[in-house]
Amino acid sequence: MLEETSRRGFLRSVGLAGGAGVMYSAMGALGLAPVPVAGAEPYRAPQESDFRLTGRGRKKVVVLGAGIAGLATAYELGKAGYDCRILEAKNRPGGRNWTARGGTVETDLDGRTQRARFSDGQYMNCGPGRLPQSHVTLDYCRELGVELQPFVNANADAYIYHEDAGPLSGKPMRWRTAKSDVYGYVSELLAKATDQGALDTALTKDDKDRLLAFLQDFGAIKGKADGWKYAGSDRRGYTVEPGAAENAGTVLGPVPSLSDVLASGVGMRFSFELGYDQAMMMFQPVGGMDAIPRALEKAVGRHRIQYEAAATGVANVPGGVEVTWKDAHGSEHAERADFCVVATPPHIAARLRHNLGDAVTGALKTPVPFAVGKIGLEYRRRWWELDDRMYGGVVPTTLDLSNMWFPSYGFQGRRGTVIGYYNYGANAEAYGRLAHEERAKRAVDQGVKIFGDRYRTELDASFSVAWHRTPYLEGGWVGWRDQNGPEYKLLNQAQGNVYFAGDWLSHVIAWQHGAFSSARKVVTDLHTRVMAA
Ligand code: PHE
Repeated sequence: MLEETSRRGFLRSVGLAGGAGVMYSAMGALGLAPVPVAGAEPYRAPQESDFRLTGRGRKKVVVLGAGIAGLATAYELGKAGYDCRILEAKNRPGGRNWTARGGTVETDLDGRTQRARFSDGQYMNCGPGRLPQSHVTLDYCRELGVELQPFVNANADAYIYHEDAGPLSGKPMRWRTAKSDVYGYVSELLAKATDQGALDTALTKDDKDRLLAFLQDFGAIKGKADGWKYAGSDRRGYTVEPGAAENAGTVLGPVPSLSDVLASGVGMRFSFELGYDQAMMMFQPVGGMDAIPRALEKAVGRHRIQYEAAATGVANVPGGVEVTWKDAHGSEHAERADFCVVATPPHIAARLRHNLGDAVTGALKTPVPFAVGKIGLEYRRRWWELDDRMYGGVVPTTLDLSNMWFPSYGFQGRRGTVIGYYNYGANAEAYGRLAHEERAKRAVDQGVKIFGDRYRTELDASFSVAWHRTPYLEGGWVGWRDQNGPEYKLLNQAQGNVYFAGDWLSHVIAWQHGAFSSARKVVTDLHTRVMAA
């Protein structure tokens, strides 16, 4: 326990350095705030005055890649007046964060070009699509004026669709029905066991009474007199909605047996929404996820970004670094700077010509890129709202589609764009091998199993992405076998005047939070070094 005076002294110094947010989190850690707040890691952006007050000269930094990590690096260094230049191989900012709208064109690594034909106002987020409350991404949205709206990651009225799962197979089941039945039967079993004394070694008399009261409430089960029976409840939903006068509604039935509910496997879906990063509330930028890179591009300065500039090499040279890159016409250019921050995926960086040593190349090849796929399907009619009364949400399936997402924007509008599949691994590879038309056909054939013919007949436009077949992305995200190993450690350290940044160098891989956090770490390391020189 800290002494009272030193505790105040500590809080004052944190408050000065990090602002009120850091101070509040620190208060939480010390037990002074009502609930501990695990906010962003303490971070102090470089400032103009750091140079002005010390008489140091501005440094030049070349950043490879205008994804979130590269943009955030240039944005943060720019706050102190660093002279940053970003070389980006694609013709747009954002990296994996990109949004397809009508007119979006992309050519994949197999030379297949797609042109999105979505209507005005319709879009699909091809990469990231949801933001948790705890992520620093939300702080950047606030700072950059990116407006947010709720993202529906859990919806009691969305479906779960399982095949090869016993007698309930092949019929969509709403999340609320699945929860009612699974919670109900589990409560019944546990109540019986408790009441019959099977848990007497673990429970006192008071514990048993409280547990039974909890289970009756949680599972909506009957009381002792009725054998703690689960017999369904209106939590399952209705076939006739309750209304006026004599209309008490008709509760959805019949209740399937315990055995059928267990065989259905629907209970295995529930832990998803308990995940630290997946729990509601979640958010998305209004108008598309690419509002984040667009805002960063503007804040960094468009003139500082060279598009269609594919880096080919990086080398430490006396007094700094030299970067080489190819323009859209294939001409090579060389560029000198004080520092370089490589903010590309590791498997792309591994192909650079460099003089950083074999250990660096080996380390860059260590993380394994994953296949990920998505398809956007624009419908003429929002049948999921009109017919199913399902306003947004995720529909998990055992089909090769994996997950389907229903839109969290444009509610009750005329048209809507559904994510027809968001899949990983073998399913993503299977779809990725197909031409777009075949992907769309296969995805629609599968979706018809759940939603019927309207899934085909109301379809208007589609666009698909295989992240692992997209130039300069070549993967959804990467996995390390070991983030305590020498490779991860090596790349988290400066190699001469060259730094690496990206979500792949964080413990929050596959989230923009990881990219922002890694950029902040590199900016802090680099700036501390410049200030110490
Ligand atoms: N962030 C991505 C998503 O939300 C990938 C991911 C999925 C990361 C599940 C963690 C867990 O879909």
